Amino acid sequence: MKHYLVTGGAGFIGSHLIDYLSLQPNTQITCLDNFDPFYSIETKKANIKTHLNKNYFKLVEADICDYTALSELLTDRYDAIIHLAAKAGVRPSLDRPREYYATNVGGTQNLLEFAKQRHIRQFVFASSSSVYGTNPNVPWSEEDTNFAPISPYASTKVSAEMLGHVYAHLYDIRFIALRFFTVYGPRQRPDLAIHKFTRLLFDSQPIPFYGNGTTRRDYTFVADIVQGIWAAINYRKSKFELINLGNNQTIALADLVRTIERTTNRTAKLQYLPEQPGDVPQTYANINKAKNLLGYQPTTNIETGIERFVEWFEKIS
Ligand SMILES: NC(=O)c1ccc[n+]([C@@H]2O[C@H](COP(=O)([O-])OP(=O)(O)OC[C@H]3O[C@@H](n4cnc5c(N)ncnc54)[C@H](O)[C@@H]3O)[C@@H](O)[C@H]2O)c1
Repeated sequence: MKHYLVTGGAGFIGSHLIDYLSLQPNTQITCLDNFDPFYSIETKKANIKTHLNKNYFKLVEADICDYTALSELLTDRYDAIIHLAAKAGVRPSLDRPREYYATNVGGTQNLLEFAKQRHIRQFVFASSSSVYGTNPNVPWSEEDTNFAPISPYASTKVSAEMLGHVYAHLYDIRFIALRFFTVYGPRQRPDLAIHKFTRLLFDSQPIPFYGNGTTRRDYTFVADIVQGIWAAINYRKSKFELINLGNNQTIALADLVRTIERTTNRTAKLQYLPEQPGDVPQTYANINKAKNLLGYQPTTNIETGIERFVEWFEKIS
C-alpha cells in the first residue's frame, strides 16, 4: 500500500492529481488543504467531492503554516509528499508579499521539516516557470542558472527550491521541483487567463488585454502535468532535481483570445491596458530534461485543451 500526502489537494491541479491517484491500485490519499479564500471555497469542495467518504481518501483541513496542526493531524505513515499548496498568482503577490512568503516559503519549510521528522523520503514540489522571469534565453532550460524572477511569487518559488536543496543534501529526502508552465484545463483557477477570458466572453464583458497582445505563454494541459507529477513521485535516480513541465509550444495573447473566440463561437470586446508589473514577456519551456528523466511527453495541444476547458465551463455555467 502506498500513502500519498497531497497538499493543496482541493485546488485545481491537486484535485486532478487526486483523481488520478485514486485510480491506482493499493493507494491511500491524504488531501491537506485550508480552503484558502483566494477563490470560492465551494469550488474547492466540489473539486474533491467524489472522493469524500471513500475509504482510500482522507481530508485534513489545516494550514501548512501551522506546524503543530500538521504534526497533530497528519498521523499516518506517508510514502511521498506532493506539495502543491501555495498562494498562487503573480499579480496579487505584489500586494501581499509577506503572506506569499509566509505560505510559500514558511509552509514549505514546515513540510520539509515534517518529512524529515517522519522519514518521508520522496518530496515533489510545485515550482513555477516564473522563476526564470525575464531571462531572454528561450526555450528556458534548467541548466541555465540565470534566474531573473520579477515578482514576490516567483521569488518564493526560487526560495522553496533552495530549501529543498538543503533538505536533500542534509537528510535522506529526494526533492523534485517541477516548474509548471501555465497550467489550464477543466477546474482551472478563475484568476488565470483562459478561465477569466471565457467567463468574460460568456458574460458579454470586455476582456482586459494587457500590452499589445504579443506576450507569449507556454500553456500546459493539466492531464499532461499530472503525468509529469506521477513520474516524479516514482523517480528514484537522484536526490535533487529541478525539472520543467511545459508544453514546449507558445501562443501569443492575441492568438489565445482568437482561439477562445473560435471555440466558443463568440466575439471578444477587448479593453486595452498597459502591461502589468510582475508579468513576464514570455514563457517557453525546454522539456528535454523532463523527457529524459521522467519520460514526460505532453499530448494535448492548445486547441484541443481549450475545447476541453470550454466543454467543462459550459457544463458548470
Ligand atoms: N496553475 C498554474 O498555472 C501553476 C503554474 C505554476 C505553478 N503552479 C503551482 O502549482 C500549485 C497548485 O496550483 P493551482 O493552480 O492548483 O492553485 P490552487 O489555488 O487551485 O490550489 C492551491 C491549493 O492550496 C491551498 N492552500 C493555499 N494556502 C494554503 C495553506 N496555507 N495551507 C493549506 N493549503 C493551502 C488552497 O486552498 C488551494 O486549494 C501551486 O503551488 C502553484 O504555485 C501553478
